[in-house]
Amino acid sequence: MDLNKAKEIILGGGVVGIPTETVYGLAASIESEEGIRKIFTLKQRPFFDPLIVHISDLKQLDQITTNISENVIEFAKLFWPGPLTLILPKNKNLNPLITSGLDTVAVRMPSHPIALKLLEEVNVPLAAPSANKFGKTSPTKAEHVRSEWPNDEVSVIEGGECSIGIESTVMQILENGDSLILEIYRPGFILESDLRAAANKLGKKAIIKKVESEKSPGHLPYHYQPEIPLVISKKRELSEDDLSLIKSKLNLKSMISVLLELNSDSVIAARELYSKLRELSKMEADFILLNARELPKEGLWQAIWDRLNRAASFQL
Ligand code: TXA
Ligand code: MG
Repeated sequence: MDLNKAKEIILGGGVVGIPTETVYGLAASIESEEGIRKIFTLKQRPFFDPLIVHISDLKQLDQITTNISENVIEFAKLFWPGPLTLILPKNKNLNPLITSGLDTVAVRMPSHPIALKLLEEVNVPLAAPSANKFGKTSPTKAEHVRSEWPNDEVSVIEGGECSIGIESTVMQILENGDSLILEIYRPGFILESDLRAAANKLGKKAIIKKVESEKSPGHLPYHYQPEIPLVISKKRELSEDDLSLIKSKLNLKSMISVLLELNSDSVIAARELYSKLRELSKMEADFILLNARELPKEGLWQAIWDRLNRAASFQL
């Protein structure tokens, strides 16, 4: 689908699948209640899970936020356009459906050229969660979005494979004298070290805190789940007992497994993760097995582990 058609659908109160550098989004105008409702219905998403608003220009912050400090704007500028989502005080005119009634709104400026062009064309911020059914694996290719709604309920703009492949880092900045308290709600491609460096660049000390899932309503312990269960093993080998445990825990009739193999380069591993989970789910297997004994934990692997832990049905 071309951009003109996408613009027409969005301005007419509809939703469109759009490419971003992280994952594909399901986008509607923030000014269309009809469009916003369609997002929740199509995704089967509970209304307690707020949406991210996407902008292409810092000027649009006035429309959706209020009282943002110069430091926060300067911080945003160091990462935007890019895979960082900031939780900001919400403008009272913003539809509360978007923010699930919270007094904050999640905002990001994507860097994918097609997303930016569309945002410029429609000239209104777009609310867009990942374009998958609630709790399932996020899409990193246009065909993934189409397969999520096989009866053509959603038109998708083709934008190739997402270069990052996992969702943005979600965070909130609190100011405290010469320090910035950086609360991370969801780890992503922008790392703690990047956030710390940004604070330092602004002449501030960084205090990094990881926020429990409850504060980020949609970031649930079970999320990103593939169609067939994912089992993570940190053992050298699975014993007969382990196999029986998997069988009973997952209520399986047979025990055919397929292996999830991740690239040793974390950037490539992140890019390929969801695509691989979708591919493996199509195989004639009962479960996907990841041998994670030697998987690193640091840097971008933190975000990959966050998704793996939530995608897994069982770990041993
Ligand atoms: O990379 C991404 O962020 C992708 C692309 C499409 O931009 N979007 C995405 O949206 O991952 P979604 O809806 O799947 O995840 C957004 C998460 C929500 O589940 C929620 O946990 C958190 O962001 N969130 C949104 N608004 C929030 C708020 N006001 N306070 C706390 N968390 C919020
Ligand atoms: Mg999502």
